[in-house]
Amino acid sequence: MSAKPILVSGVKPTGDLHIGNYFGAMRQFVELTKEGKYRPFIFVADYHALNTMQDAEEMRRRTREIVMAYIAIGLDPKDVVFFKQSEVPAHTELAWIFDTLTTMPYLMRAHAYKDAEAKNREISVGTFNYPILMAADILLYDAAVVPVGQDQKQHIEIARDTVEKFNRAYKTDVFTLPEPYIMPDVAVVPGTDGQKMSKSYGNVIPLFGTTDELTKAVMSIVTDSSGVRPENVYNMHKLVRSEEELGMIYHTDAGNYKRLKELLIEDIDRYLAPMRAKYEELQSDSSIVDDVLARGRIEARAIADAKMEQVRQAIGVA
Ligand code: ADP
Ligand code: TRP
Repeated sequence: MSAKPILVSGVKPTGDLHIGNYFGAMRQFVELTKEGKYRPFIFVADYHALNTMQDAEEMRRRTREIVMAYIAIGLDPKDVVFFKQSEVPAHTELAWIFDTLTTMPYLMRAHAYKDAEAKNREISVGTFNYPILMAADILLYDAAVVPVGQDQKQHIEIARDTVEKFNRAYKTDVFTLPEPYIMPDVAVVPGTDGQKMSKSYGNVIPLFGTTDELTKAVMSIVTDSSGVRPENVYNMHKLVRSEEELGMIYHTDAGNYKRLKELLIEDIDRYLAPMRAKYEELQSDSSIVDDVLARGRIEARAIADAKMEQVRQAIGVA
């Protein structure tokens, strides 16, 4: 048994990753798994994604894309148990057991549900129940730390409440309390129009795009004609080059927006090239991802199945 505290996190198989996702979240996440302080279990939250994605081909493609993306940016599958949520049936099985201890009014207080309500949207039972599946994801592995964005903090609270409900109801200590690890807020990465970069605004620089796509995106960066430093170009440039060097460059080529954009293209291209190369290698040999997920499935199942044995004993079905 490893004595290291367990880290668990789920990544949604949402595709079309952009450099805002990378600099804003993915990079810090991968760094955390590399610190060596934790034993990380990372899974693709495909059953969570079913709530919003109902296309089999898209599900398959995006699942592979997210696995390739994390490996390409530096997640080392040797250090991490990397698996698909759907391949460890204990997640949904445990979610059912937690459902029986959870009341409707309790889940109605969750932000995600309240937001949907406020917008008068009809939500699926799966979406309503999302925090319970997430509690199962976390508690199955005795997670000590759960790195998430600020928006997920309430879900960790729900997992903690669920530990207490279960342990009290069955007079046991089968589950341990997880702690949230809120990823430090990093600066918002601006898009080509100066607003927050987001796939829903169509202002992104793709993370694994071709040089042509990168060129097109950078050339479309909105600049004003006031003659001062083109802020939208500069703010993006800061991500890939030190401000000290940029000070000189933006002084020398002040006003020459075309030249500055060309330099930005070169610098982003150089920065992303190794990740893109790794991504392409993974794309060209599908067995690498298959092997990672197959190993992850075996390791995750072993832990999850052992926990389910304790749960079955505790609730009296075994
Ligand atoms: P999008 O806005 O493109 O739909 P998501 O909401 O899927 O992106 O974001 C996934 C993760 O990437 C979140 O943790 C979010 O904080 C981070 N992220 C997305 N866009 C940016 C950005 N422009 N700057 C910083 N972080 C970002
Ligand atoms: N809900 C998380 C998100 O939207 C993804 C997720 C699912 C997760 N299960 C998890 C994160 C378990 C941490 C632990 O980003």
